[in-house]
Amino acid sequence: MTRAGFQDGADFAAAMDARDSLSHFRERFHFPKSKIGEDCLYLCGHSLGLQPKTAASYIDQALRDWAHLGVEGHFHADNPWMPYHRLLTQQTAALVGAEPLEVVVMNSLTVNLHLMMTSFYRPTAQRHKIVIERGAFPSDQYAVQSQIRYHGFHPTSSLLELTPRDGEVCMRDDDIESLIDREGDSIALILLGGVNYVTGQLFDMEEITKCGHRKGCVVGFDLAHAAGNIPLRTHDWGADFAVWCSYKYLNGGPGCVGGCFVHARHARAWDLPRFAGWWGHDEKTRFQMGPNFHPIPGAEGWQLSNPPIMALAPLRASMEIFAEAGIERLRAKSVTLTAYMEFLLAQFDSRKFSVITPREEARRGAQLSIRLSDHGRELCDQLAAAGVIGDWREPDTFRIAAVPLYNSFQDVYRFVQCFSAVL
Ligand SMILES: Cc1ncc(COP(=O)(O)O)c(C=O)c1O
Repeated sequence: MTRAGFQDGADFAAAMDARDSLSHFRERFHFPKSKIGEDCLYLCGHSLGLQPKTAASYIDQALRDWAHLGVEGHFHADNPWMPYHRLLTQQTAALVGAEPLEVVVMNSLTVNLHLMMTSFYRPTAQRHKIVIERGAFPSDQYAVQSQIRYHGFHPTSSLLELTPRDGEVCMRDDDIESLIDREGDSIALILLGGVNYVTGQLFDMEEITKCGHRKGCVVGFDLAHAAGNIPLRTHDWGADFAVWCSYKYLNGGPGCVGGCFVHARHARAWDLPRFAGWWGHDEKTRFQMGPNFHPIPGAEGWQLSNPPIMALAPLRASMEIFAEAGIERLRAKSVTLTAYMEFLLAQFDSRKFSVITPREEARRGAQLSIRLSDHGRELCDQLAAAGVIGDWREPDTFRIAAVPLYNSFQDVYRFVQCFSAVL
């Protein structure tokens, strides 16, 4: 479907839904209710994904095992808790394009970011800078600045922020590469969001990794807004590490356990410094309770604690659905849904808003960011009161995402009707 093939009108949206081979997945999720008891028009999967209807049964099973087995559940539950996190390994690896050895589901995003920087940010007097996007997610900014300080450097001289050109909102690929080429010898770590959380810009992670490695830099990605949104090939792209959360497109529930990728070439890099914990220790000898740490090869060697089973359980429900739907099929629908939303928004010759997300499909995921010149927060609140859920980022950005697992073309159509009415 090309942009030119889209048509305005509710009939067209209904016809698109009728042809959508993924439309039945919508039934597998709970939709929040509006004040009048109807399903909300939920376009906020970039912030918190919806609850799979099967999530409760996965949690119930863990609760039942705990009730019936107590501590024995570690080994004798239907899905024993000792290796419980591994129930997610294959699907997670497939979703981010990694080998199973390279991924682990653990902690939360910022914790994993620190763990990764402990191992992969190794500043020296010559090479001490970290590159991030200007306006990266605050937690990433705080984490990076605190790491720089922790190593005795200062953000004023060690933090390099990628900045769009004057008058532009998104970064140009060429500018990213020329900054890396220019400053590369002093850059220790390039840490970018795979998809920028404000603009929705998807970065060319493969090129950035190549470019960074050519200059001897370590390259890591924050995939919070990319995992479950776009197909990833973390292994082939060759990034050193990546981290993500599981509560956005991955529908794992609020504060759900995050994910971490460490490239296979570091799987046995025992000389890397790391903060260790017993869950990262070789399983064969873990319960001998010895004093010396022998890490598990691969990403699992970065685990610290035994994981929260109740938080992993709902993620299993969601990952089953992803495995069934397939990220490539989801992406194909997502590209069309987002282009359709953009097409409908473009019908208004409005000076009151502009879409700041890149237009090219290769440079964005499901999210569209709408910049509102006036009263944006009020608009967002009014929509929410009417059961239309997006979110607001200060100072002027309204974010919405049509999520291919549970949003329909009719959702998009209805959203644009409501948006224009409130506008
Ligand atoms: C891009 C990005 N990085 C980091 C975070 C922080 O995640 P957490 O609270 O799981 O550490 C978020 C949360 O929304 C995010 O969007």
